[in-house]
Amino acid sequence: KHMADEECDYLFKTVLIGDSAVGKSNLLSRFAKDEFHLDTKPTIGVEFAYRNTKLGDKIIKAQIWDTAGQERFRAITNSYYRGALGAMLVYDITRNETFENVRKWLQELKEFGDPDMVIVLVGNKSDLVDLREVEVEDGQKLAEVEKLCFLETSAKENLNVEDAFLQMITKIY
Ligand code: GTP
Ligand code: MG
Repeated sequence: KHMADEECDYLFKTVLIGDSAVGKSNLLSRFAKDEFHLDTKPTIGVEFAYRNTKLGDKIIKAQIWDTAGQERFRAITNSYYRGALGAMLVYDITRNETFENVRKWLQELKEFGDPDMVIVLVGNKSDLVDLREVEVEDGQKLAEVEKLCFLETSAKENLNVEDAFLQMITKIY
């Protein structure tokens, strides 16, 4: 199931999915490079980054595929689920429609992903308290029903970002 690699003990492929502009690319740049950008452009197709994490005495290399949330890329992004052991499904706590669409993304994962895939539900932009449209409890409830891990994050303020990725990686492991 897991591919061996020279500098690491395990290589895990994971994907970032969710509506456009929820902050997937910034969550990844925060985790992989500790960078945040206010003016990022929508991802075209797919990009990816790596980060090594030490779990006990093992080095896990996470290969994280950052997919495009824009509808016009749906047809190509479907194929990226193949071989992924984990998915981070992101919505934006300031836009309820991105939360409503979580069910649609779960449906896609069921259709195209591995049935054993670890899924972490993430409500991003927790720094924007005054603009909040989705309550923490709503995220928690959905995660409970769908049996997912759940966290709210802020890529901007670097809140829970590390935790969200590490939960996913630890659960895969
Ligand atoms: P697509 O590539 O189109 O699917 O979008 P995306 O999900 O990758 O979103 P992206 O990371 O490009 O971020 C979209 C916008 O949200 C950018 O202007 C970011 O600066 C902003 N953003 C991302 N994360 C946060 C956050 O935690 N807090 C705040 N305030 N803004 C954020
Ligand atoms: Mg992006």
